[in-house]
Amino acid sequence: MNQSISDNHKFVLTTPLYYVNDVPHIGSAYTTMVADAIARFQRLQGKSVLLITGTDEHGQKIQRTAEEKGLEPQEHCDRIVEQFKALWQRLNIQYDRFSRTTDPSHQTIVQEFFQRVWDKGDIYLDQQQGWYCVSCEEFKDKRELNEDGTCPLHPNKKAEWRDEENYFFRLSKYQKPLEELYSQKPDFIQPETRRNEVLNFVKQGLKDFSTSRVNLDWGFPIPTDPSHTIYVWFDALLGYVTALLEPDQKVNLTNALSRWWPINLHLIGKDILRFHAVYWPAMLMSAELPIPERVFGHGFLTKDGLKMGKSLGNTLDPLALVDKYGADAVRYYFIKAIDFGKDGDFSETRFIEVLNADLANNLGNLLNRTLGMLKKYCQGNGPQLTAADYPETHPLKVIGQELGTKVIKAYETLQFKQACEEIFTLINASNKYIDDIAPWSLFKQGKQTEVELVLYAVLESVRLSAYWLSPIIPNLSNDIYQQLGFDLDFNNKTQINQPNIFDKHAQWGEISANKNLGKARPIFAKIELPEDI
Ligand code: MSP
Repeated sequence: MNQSISDNHKFVLTTPLYYVNDVPHIGSAYTTMVADAIARFQRLQGKSVLLITGTDEHGQKIQRTAEEKGLEPQEHCDRIVEQFKALWQRLNIQYDRFSRTTDPSHQTIVQEFFQRVWDKGDIYLDQQQGWYCVSCEEFKDKRELNEDGTCPLHPNKKAEWRDEENYFFRLSKYQKPLEELYSQKPDFIQPETRRNEVLNFVKQGLKDFSTSRVNLDWGFPIPTDPSHTIYVWFDALLGYVTALLEPDQKVNLTNALSRWWPINLHLIGKDILRFHAVYWPAMLMSAELPIPERVFGHGFLTKDGLKMGKSLGNTLDPLALVDKYGADAVRYYFIKAIDFGKDGDFSETRFIEVLNADLANNLGNLLNRTLGMLKKYCQGNGPQLTAADYPETHPLKVIGQELGTKVIKAYETLQFKQACEEIFTLINASNKYIDDIAPWSLFKQGKQTEVELVLYAVLESVRLSAYWLSPIIPNLSNDIYQQLGFDLDFNNKTQINQPNIFDKHAQWGEISANKNLGKARPIFAKIELPEDI
């Protein structure tokens, strides 16, 4: 139980631990959907996967929100956490750990870690003067603020002046080691644009940052000086470590790090890049711990081309979207239609167009009409064929047999749009193939074997597409598999995590169609464009 897993057999990934100042927004849903798709993809390949999500519950922002609502902070956090968990369930997110920074085990980990850094001599007391953005929970340089003193990320909130004694972390000491890390591990920060941002920031010279607050009790006390609480970011980043503890393990740092550390991938939005790509590795270096493998900073979502925000009144409620369109539709749009790493836009028109074109027409209709023909021309029996029955030059076999390598590469490099495009090359080729070959006229000519060869090749292509799309649209993939007579359940983590399943299902033509085909029904109904859009 307590053994570490060989490096290339495990995959640990995290979403940010979301602030609980409000109910989950589309930004948090976006990262979490992507993280879930990656986790599912890694599970398909038989890896031991740990997907960590959770909530960041301390600090002034949360304390103030609770006060405004007349609630005790813990009570407020407990209520919001339920809403996060409910949304993740609606979006079919299979997280393995939900890390809450108010969890008692987390306090033990934070204090032990703080002590290590303290013992290293990397923490000292000094006077902190500066502008603090409570929404970012971060000190800002005057030149980073707007002219009216607001923070560019939170234009309706003025930064607040602070002049207080704080404990500081010697970030400046890690300037060189960090620069070495970035050059020795060029893939540590992705994509390239974010890496450059970080390199430029670090080049300007790193300043020590304060790791404690006075006059704030909603946080963990500093072990050596309880009049201070630990800075919310120092506390929150360690939530990733606490999450690694097995439920039955004694709570200490060594145990937390024994099995899953180091983390393979931190998925974050671009606004919290510095914390993950600069502060976090420096903190870990100070504690003499290995550094995570990769930090990926994705872009921001806009709505109808505009920045989303409460002040503009154009927020996008992820729950309302799932209620209206279902989990797979929402997952598919955000993962396929937005280039991961870049900013991306949501417009309901485009959303509907993408879903109709890809899921209802190209994929759904293909399955439906092919199964219809099977019923008509083969009495509904799936032809008993395999790849060996087709020449190497068969158009669908050619694409199908190369698909795995291409899709794996795209998923591994987090190019989900490209992964989908590769899969749709096979789907589109199948549609064209049916139109060109016209099995209905082969049937009329009495060429039964040829009809079966055509239908099997198409159904096998749909099956393989469903397999590779399953990290993104698991319910639809299940539906397709069922109609094709297979009982594999893509929502069953254990079942799909077997190497023998991968070996069989990830290949084109490896599966001889099952005779007991399920009942054919449209998998994705075309959505009508509402008139008011
Ligand atoms: N609590 C910190 C993270 C601590 S991790 C140890 C935090 N939380 S947050 O709830 O404010 O932000 C969570 C994520 O949502 C961030 O990755 C942020 O980039 C992302 N987004 C917030 N608005 C967004 C969009 N409009 N679009 C895409 N993602 C955005 O920061």
